[in-house]
Amino acid sequence: MLKWEEYIMGKYKEVLFMKIIICANEQELDRKAAEELANHIRRNPDTVVGLATGGTPVGMYKQLIDMHKNEGLDFSRAITFNLDEYVGIPYDHPCSYHAYMNDNLFDHVNISRDNINIPDGLSESLEQACTEYEEKIKSVGGIDIQILGIGHNGHIGFNEPGTPFDSITSVVELTASTREANSRFFDSIDDVPTHAVSMGIKTIMHAKKIVLLAKGADKADAMAKALYGPVTTDVPASVLQLHPNVTVFVDEGAGSKFPTK
Ligand code: GLP
Repeated sequence: MLKWEEYIMGKYKEVLFMKIIICANEQELDRKAAEELANHIRRNPDTVVGLATGGTPVGMYKQLIDMHKNEGLDFSRAITFNLDEYVGIPYDHPCSYHAYMNDNLFDHVNISRDNINIPDGLSESLEQACTEYEEKIKSVGGIDIQILGIGHNGHIGFNEPGTPFDSITSVVELTASTREANSRFFDSIDDVPTHAVSMGIKTIMHAKKIVLLAKGADKADAMAKALYGPVTTDVPASVLQLHPNVTVFVDEGAGSKFPTK
């Protein structure tokens, strides 16, 4: 059993160590986060990478594309698993996370299509697809490095407040606030799906390393609660305090509510 699992069972009280890097601006964050991931891939070309979507990692992906084109960063043996996908929108819909990943990374680097895994929000049997996703992650030895963003309500992946820490990949219902936040990518809020398939919190916590990214003052509350507040399912990202290997990259806005000494 891992220490964080012992903790949620009340056996282990100590909160573990996190490395927090406050960047001067978004560009610095993008570059440093990309370097962190690139270093893993350079050291181990077969790295299993967990990938996130949303606005936050777009700049990091641009840097990775740049490293591929100009420095020969080789994705040919890397295996990727995305955190989540909406239920019910076609893969070629511009707002699907399949399309997002193609546009922002996969179409521009030498990743093997066979090594790309994204939850299937179109399966006729969503539950079975979730089980298979979970099994596939296990079959490649687990995720080596997981990239995460954070929602305004502290969600990670699409694991909304109240999600049990031992959840695995499943169909989840999106909160009104998450649908509102993500409506900026759609024509209207009515077009934002009500459900998604998301890796679970346990799935995420089993990654060997986690890299959490947050940009902008609108994320400051969520980040302060996640890193310095109580570990609670009310703030899903707070579970990361129990992970033994987390690196956090924030810009000054997202780090502006961290406690000062
Ligand atoms: C989305 C995604 C998350 C992402 C978060 C923040 O709903 N499911 O994986 O981290 O919300 O998104 P953004 O980076 O656009 O603020």
